[in-house]
Amino acid sequence: MRLSGKRALLIGAATGIGRACVEDFARNGASLVIADINEAAMAEAVELARAQGVVAHGIACDVGDEASVRDAVAFAEKQLGGLDTLAFFAGLMRTGAIDTFEAATWDAIFNVNARGTFFAAKYGAAALRRAGGGSFITTSSLAGLRGAPGMTAYAAAKGAVIAFTTALAQELAPSNIRVNSVLPGWIDTPFNNPAIDHMGGARAHGEIVQRIVPLGRQGTPAEVAPMYTFLASEESRYITAKSMMVDGGMAH
Ligand SMILES: NC(=O)c1ccc[n+]([C@@H]2O[C@H](COP(=O)([O-])OP(=O)(O)OC[C@H]3O[C@@H](n4cnc5c(N)ncnc54)[C@H](O)[C@@H]3O)[C@@H](O)[C@H]2O)c1
Repeated sequence: MRLSGKRALLIGAATGIGRACVEDFARNGASLVIADINEAAMAEAVELARAQGVVAHGIACDVGDEASVRDAVAFAEKQLGGLDTLAFFAGLMRTGAIDTFEAATWDAIFNVNARGTFFAAKYGAAALRRAGGGSFITTSSLAGLRGAPGMTAYAAAKGAVIAFTTALAQELAPSNIRVNSVLPGWIDTPFNNPAIDHMGGARAHGEIVQRIVPLGRQGTPAEVAPMYTFLASEESRYITAKSMMVDGGMAH
């Protein structure tokens, strides 16, 4: 019960890595609000959390819409009686060669990954401050450090999240708010399908993963979730402005 008494808003946590965090946060005793654009999957995530015996609520939220993020933060603060942790997972990946990459696709990728993170921080910071401090956790990617062919826009957006996290950590430290980013490597969710297609399919992707990941396989969402739990817990109280890689050794 490492998060006993903690009140957390998890944005973009209906599926994948975020949903694994819902389960890990609930197992560790946090009360939760889950915000996501996918309302059906969000309702399932809420039920999973409640099955662990914790308070959990859901709210529909589009992170591309400033008012929607503002409302999700206000809802969480009201339902939970305050906010100690805000973790942002929402992401969008599209791939393509640079010569034909559409500006609209570039904008869509930045809209969810980077601009969404900004809105979460803009409203989340005040809520965490009202609670006397807390933990703000962003989700970047190994792609934000080194990228890959066909992933220029996604890599740029995730690189922006890293820079944003570092700057925000310095800005919010006087308010006792820690800000860190989790950088997953290759994690087995359908999110990566566009990248796998771009690499030539599942077999080619499998060979690449074997070659570049020292542990020789993709990770699972459940193997990433404990990093978020750690960053939300008091065990990480002296850790801020960091990029925490969960990547099977890919970056070395
Ligand atoms: N899977 C990987 O290998 C991997 C690697 C590095 C980083 N990441 C990052 O981890 C995060 C989660 O990815 P995942 O693999 O769990 O994929 P996922 O598709 O399961 O999760 C993304 C979540 O974001 C939500 N979302 C998308 N657009 C939204 C919007 N406009 N408003 C609100 N919610 C929205 C989706 O509904 C979903 O619940 C993403 O930020 C992704 O970039 C994933």
